[in-house]
This record gives sequence, C-alpha cells and structure tokens, in this order.
Amino acid sequence: MQDNPARHSKPTPVPPVAASALEKTLPLRINGKNYFSDDDPAMPLLWYLRDMLRLTGTKYACGIGACGACTVLVDGKAQAACMVTLKQVTGHSITTIEGLAGNADLHPLQQAWIDEDVVLCGYCQTGQIMSAAALLQHDADPSDADIDKIANLCRCGSYPRIRRAIKRAAAASKPAKKK
Ligand code: FES
Ligand code: FES
Repeated sequence: MQDNPARHSKPTPVPPVAASALEKTLPLRINGKNYFSDDDPAMPLLWYLRDMLRLTGTKYACGIGACGACTVLVDGKAQAACMVTLKQVTGHSITTIEGLAGNADLHPLQQAWIDEDVVLCGYCQTGQIMSAAALLQHDADPSDADIDKIANLCRCGSYPRIRRAIKRAAAASKPAKKK
C-alpha cells in the first residue's frame, strides 16, 4: 500500500452538506456518527480513519491484509481496514477501537485487557481487541480453539494473555443468573 497523498492535509470538521452535494459524497457511519467524504472513493478505509479523521487507534502495519493490526468492525464483523475502500463501506456501520465502548468508559474486553495485563509493545493490540469483539458478538463463550482461530499477528507473543482476557471478558459479559 502506497503512502496516502492526503495525509499531510489538516483535519477539518465535517461541514454541513447541501442536499445536492450529497450525490457527490460518500456517506459513512463511523462510531455512531455520520460523515460525508468527498475523498477518492478508492481510498482505503484505513487512510480515511487515520489521516483524515485522526482515529489513530487503528494501526497500519503490513498494508496487505496479513497482520490484522488495522482491524475494525464493519456491521459487527472483523475487517482489515487496509483492504476495503471508502466506496465499499458506504452505507455500512463501522466501529473502531475509539468507539468500541459506546457510552461506557471501557468495553468489557478493554477492561479484561487491563486486568490480564495483555499489552506488551502494544502495536497489534487494538486490532486484537477488535477481532475479539467480533468473535464475542457471534460466540459469547468461545473455546480455546475458537479464540486461536483469530488470525491477528503479535510479534511479542501475547497470545496466552489474549486468550485469558477474552475468556475473562466473556465471563464478565454473561447475564447474571436469576435466583
Ligand atoms: S495493516 Fe491491514 S492487515 Fe496489516
Ligand atoms: S504486543 Fe507487540 S506486536 Fe503484539
């Protein structure tokens, strides 16, 4: 993936968009907010998040869909942000690490990551958490084998800690049994 030619531009607040202009813009929904981009529709989502919105929690590492550092949620599913264009995610709901907790201070996964002291160098960890969030959305009680199917790479070898943290978050998210 080549460098983003737009990355040195200053971030600007999203301006009000006239109805006629909407036809020329890409409506995007990111972390519960609406954005209208007039950038190149072929721009990778990763560039838009990091360089235009300054949501730098989503990391750039391999740029070829191999490492998972740039993982975000698109309609609740894990997606490498370096591998999809703005046009491809138009009309879909995107969640980054900055929006994962919603209105809470921390998502249960973020709390579990702290409690299990998962982070080593940290570079891969936001992508790891987003992949874990996608896993828990369709499997509230994953086995070790399920967790090990997460393909995100960690050069620091934090996999055992990640496994413990996902199990901790899953347990914390279970509804309390009625007495
Ligand atoms: S930077 Fe996107 S998968 Fe590695
Ligand atoms: S914590 Fe260093 S790459 Fe994963």
